[in-house]
Amino acid sequence: MKQQKTVVVGVSGGVAVYKTLDVISRLRKADINVHVIMTEAATEFVTPLSFQSLSQNMVIHNMFEEPRAWEIQHISLAKKADLMLIAPATANIIGKVANGIADDMLSTTIMATKAPVIFAPAMNTNMYNNPIVKDNIRKLKDYGYGFIEPASGRLACGDVGDGKLADTELIAERVISALYEPKDLMGLKVLVTAGPTISAIDPVRFITNRSTGKMGYAIAEEARDRGAEVVLITGPSNLQPPFGMKVKQINTNEEMLNAVLEEYDSCDIVIKSAAVADYKAKNYSSEKIKKGSGDLVLEFTRDNDILKNLGDKKKNQILIGFAAESNEILQNAKEKLGKKNLDYIVANDITSKETGFGSDNNKVTIISKTGEAIELESMSKRLVGQELFNIVLKHINN
Ligand code: CTP
Repeated sequence: MKQQKTVVVGVSGGVAVYKTLDVISRLRKADINVHVIMTEAATEFVTPLSFQSLSQNMVIHNMFEEPRAWEIQHISLAKKADLMLIAPATANIIGKVANGIADDMLSTTIMATKAPVIFAPAMNTNMYNNPIVKDNIRKLKDYGYGFIEPASGRLACGDVGDGKLADTELIAERVISALYEPKDLMGLKVLVTAGPTISAIDPVRFITNRSTGKMGYAIAEEARDRGAEVVLITGPSNLQPPFGMKVKQINTNEEMLNAVLEEYDSCDIVIKSAAVADYKAKNYSSEKIKKGSGDLVLEFTRDNDILKNLGDKKKNQILIGFAAESNEILQNAKEKLGKKNLDYIVANDITSKETGFGSDNNKVTIISKTGEAIELESMSKRLVGQELFNIVLKHINN
């Protein structure tokens, strides 16, 4: 079992203080132990009791309060933290830390910790754009402090611009991602393709397929959380572009091919989970096709097999394909593995309702080029990604 992680959340004074309650609730749901330190200004916006109730730990806000245990609090929390999150981070706390000032419980703890510290700033737009604040942020980034950029929008003061606390779900995800273990893909570059491609017939119509991108996005997020440098090349998808990776959005087979080739030489692991269209309209009509009295017959011509192209060019990359099959699953998958010069192929049955297109789960068999087949149970797409990297890493380490 993995050891429970501890996050020390530093809350400094601004209107966004109440939003941090939601971040803490999300961290607790992820089974993270949370301690809260508030500045005196923060306690003017929300009482420490709310933070205490959600974190289920005593909230610290006064440095000279009677200690409850024989520990120096800022030192003990600084040591206990696996990560410190400062949210909302005001211009004041950013300025203090950037200039070495430690005059309250929060600033002293930040100064004393060896754990990673991530700031989520929230302040008025003009303050955020003030060159002094910008300089302080740059200085902290140079020292290795992390930042979750604020969002843009209408601020409490009525101004519109940058400075809103980032989305609370995103803040929680960033923290959970930073704490994720193991970081065993560190130093590796992973390319993932996801979603469908589309082929236009005229300015109004196109053909595509049922792929939603869920499988590829889950793999890309697993790789990111394990420390890899990730490039996600995705066809049209309703999913939010994940943070912490380069995301390239494409539409057609050719755009995907070009985007993949730009990255391919520098990649260590390439996973092609995209459902690439094999055919495109033979004659694209630049004008809308008008209806006639009879049937409409369209002709399609073969498009690039991107994965075969990568297999032919392969040097040291580990190349992994997916096989979307409805019958003779293993046999068809093995054939594709050979034809496209792959190291692994992930075979899945697209006819199953529980695990087919659009579902959150998948049931796959991972086949290696040596013929070994590992049949996995039905599991979340994220877990499929986890198993896949476990297998690939074993391969790399041998
Ligand atoms: N693929 C690709 N380019 C294509 C078609 C497929 O790169 N034009 C990749 C997919 O991303 C997947 C693998 O090849 O990793 C297998 O895709 P799949 O659609 O199962 O197979 P096809 O090779 O297209 O064969 P068929 O459609 O005849 O089953």
